[in-house]
Amino acid sequence: MRIRLNINGKDYESDVEPRTLLVDFIRDVAGLKGTHIGCETGSCGACMVLLDGKPVKSCLMLAAQAEGKKIVTVEGLSEGGKLNAVQKSLSQKKALQCGFCAAGFSIMGTWILENEQDTDYERVKSDLAGVVCRCSGYEPIINAIVEAAKNERKD
Ligand code: FES
Ligand code: FES
Repeated sequence: MRIRLNINGKDYESDVEPRTLLVDFIRDVAGLKGTHIGCETGSCGACMVLLDGKPVKSCLMLAAQAEGKKIVTVEGLSEGGKLNAVQKSLSQKKALQCGFCAAGFSIMGTWILENEQDTDYERVKSDLAGVVCRCSGYEPIINAIVEAAKNERKD
């Protein structure tokens, strides 16, 4: 079937199998490899994207279900090569190790900054519960997102 998806403000159109997963469309059709595949069962969060502003695990959706919606991947969080507040904080705090989980934490962190009133340590930790870091670097990641939220709110 022919599917057209809007990803990071750009339309991508292709003939794909009806069973094509959103994550596979993003990686293989759009060529956006920052969205990773860790488990394909909804457990790790490496495939997280924003769909009309809401975080979703793109391995749990068919590409066809995302037609007509605005998809943002980790590549779409930066503008003109400038990292957003969450990405900058993760980088400055050296919060990531191998980086495999970067898309999940960057997407969730961005959603937290844009949607949560309360961004203390416990709230951020609980919001991040669906994203797994196999390098087990949770503390610096949570702290980096808490700090990014604090800095945003100062401005
Ligand atoms: S690959 Fe989607 S949650 Fe792990
Ligand atoms: S930094 Fe390696 S999986 Fe998170």
